[in-house]
Amino acid sequence: MTTSMTTLVTTSMTTSSCQSTVQLYDLHPPLDDFRSEVLRGLMQPAKSISPKFLYDKQGAELFDEICELEEYYLTRTELSILQAYAPEIAAYLQEAVLVEFGSGSSQKVRILLDAMPDLLAYVALDISRQHLQESCENLAIAYPHLKTVAICADYMQPLELPNIPALQQRRRVGFFPGSTIGNLEPAEAVQFLKQAAILLGAGGGLLIGVDLQKSPDILEPAYNDAQGISAEFALNVLTRINRELGADFNRDQFEYTAVYNQTAGRIEMYITSLTAQTIHLDGVKIAFEQGERLRTEYSYKYSVPQFQALAALAGLEAAQVWIDPQQLFSLHYLQLPKR
Ligand SMILES: C[S@@+](CC[C@H](N)C(=O)[O-])C[C@H]1O[C@@H](n2cnc3c(N)ncnc32)[C@H](O)[C@@H]1O
Repeated sequence: MTTSMTTLVTTSMTTSSCQSTVQLYDLHPPLDDFRSEVLRGLMQPAKSISPKFLYDKQGAELFDEICELEEYYLTRTELSILQAYAPEIAAYLQEAVLVEFGSGSSQKVRILLDAMPDLLAYVALDISRQHLQESCENLAIAYPHLKTVAICADYMQPLELPNIPALQQRRRVGFFPGSTIGNLEPAEAVQFLKQAAILLGAGGGLLIGVDLQKSPDILEPAYNDAQGISAEFALNVLTRINRELGADFNRDQFEYTAVYNQTAGRIEMYITSLTAQTIHLDGVKIAFEQGERLRTEYSYKYSVPQFQALAALAGLEAAQVWIDPQQLFSLHYLQLPKR
């Protein structure tokens, strides 16, 4: 069901500069949904937890640390592409409302905003409420003339933009960086793209960062760094489940691994149980065998033609693609037909 923004509780956050305000539309899914989704995933024969649950406040901060790691080539490569082609990319975003999906720290968008000083409205959409709020407050201080709207929501749910003048009757362009689309299985990715296309509307577009296929020698360290921040990021979800849902995971009894599955074209991230053990969650006993794996994330890698074919299944047309000289990462501009 489409979520109507008119029924939302909104909070206006005045930034410390007092020059601009950020409006937060809070559509964070209820705790009951978190509990039932986690239980469902843990009760499957192949246990899993959705990666969207990795981003509580600590998780979002750990992810920011990952972005700074030497092994994690994705962030600096995507930033370099944005920097190298900013004027060309900006030409595709003229006279648009910019809507960022999974906006995180809203850092990459600054390159676009600097290249488009007259962009009037930016919508940041993320499931991690506190991080979203802080990031948007910082952005509003740096770009006081920009109308900044924060929406805390699950982007896999159908959404409408708030019915406010700054967001109406303008072309909409989406921004989905970080290769976050790779966390979705291909069928889910098509579903996401279809929903994004509805939100963005005819004549709009989507600028989307997609990690390219490459050697496991580069991929595996990117998701399992020497300092152990990736492991900390994955294991933090157990701490979150203990804190918010009252479970009794012992993190020391689990170990993190990341492996590239060449056939499926994806990095697979797991937390492996080091012993036979039983976890209690909401009155349910969840048994782990020694060596049993709990999947926390996939990260699919796509060649350019593979990703363009996936986007076409959602009705999005390939208009342009930018790639770094080492051919590590791709940034696509996809276009929505005018009708
Ligand atoms: C891989 S991080 C990317 C962050 C940032 N865009 C970047 O490029 O560095 C994924 C972001 O998407 C958000 N996210 C993940 N799943 C989500 C969902 N289902 N709905 C909304 N936001 C989600 C996370 O909270 C996180 O900020």
